[in-house]
Amino acid sequence: MLAGSSYEFRRTRTAESARRLASVTAGLRSNRSDRGASDGKPRVGPDCGNRAIAWEPIPLSVFGEALPVAIRSSWVFILRAGAITGAERHPNSHQRMMSYRATGDLQTGGEGKWQSNPLVSDPAASMEKRWISVPPNVWHQAAVSDRDWVVVSFHTVQAQELIEERPAAEDAGRTRQRHYVVASALSLEKVNLSEKLAQFSDRWNPKIVGELNGQQVKLVKLQGPFVWHHHDQEDELFLAVKGRFRMEFRDRHVWLEQDEFLIVPHGVEHRPVADEEAHVLLFEPASTLNTGNVKKERTVERLETI
Ligand code: NI
Repeated sequence: MLAGSSYEFRRTRTAESARRLASVTAGLRSNRSDRGASDGKPRVGPDCGNRAIAWEPIPLSVFGEALPVAIRSSWVFILRAGAITGAERHPNSHQRMMSYRATGDLQTGGEGKWQSNPLVSDPAASMEKRWISVPPNVWHQAAVSDRDWVVVSFHTVQAQELIEERPAAEDAGRTRQRHYVVASALSLEKVNLSEKLAQFSDRWNPKIVGELNGQQVKLVKLQGPFVWHHHDQEDELFLAVKGRFRMEFRDRHVWLEQDEFLIVPHGVEHRPVADEEAHVLLFEPASTLNTGNVKKERTVERLETI
């Protein structure tokens, strides 16, 4: 289900999908309460009017390894009993949605040609009855039954980047786009590097501590030599926050002392080496894989956000 990308509106049905759905559901049930949104308070969207009671982004770490790398944000929505949410579509994201509690109809197609896709939350029900895939630009709306409906949505863009497009109220032939969340609602909190660094001790396992403009701010602890690699596309910034390390290139090396940074251009082979533990801030595109072109045991595909 999470793997399909056909432009045809479809639900998926492979064994792999079923396995993932089971993992996602288990992740939600076991972790939901203690690993919720940043401040633990569901957000009530003023623009949602009477369509939704509450919604909030969920950290992807809740789902462990169950999600494909393409998924960049997840959300829980509580939809009001009896509501019809109205047509919307996402020009920049492929949405997957599962029914989590109660039932509803996630209609697709658009005004005058809505097609019904009833969904239930019964864990014993088949994939097709609980889960739906909505490719980019496909109009959809939820029609809720006589009980509040809780659904979980997954998107292929970060929460801050998700765009919602709706028909313009004043002109049915036009649409309006807006970002689903105001970035500040998520990120107007300062970050203290020492506090973040105190939250983990594993080495060579970067943690995301910030995101902006498709780039990520990460913290990582290094000790010993890393693997030689390069990045085909991404330039990487390394800032020594604590301790010192050496960035090796094939023909020379550069020592980075605390408070110093270095930018490694894409295409350049490099290998960080720390004789003693060093704490390093990375700034690089979200697409950057830590081992670049080399897949090794140290490759971390999905980074934890702390
Ligand atoms: Ni690198």
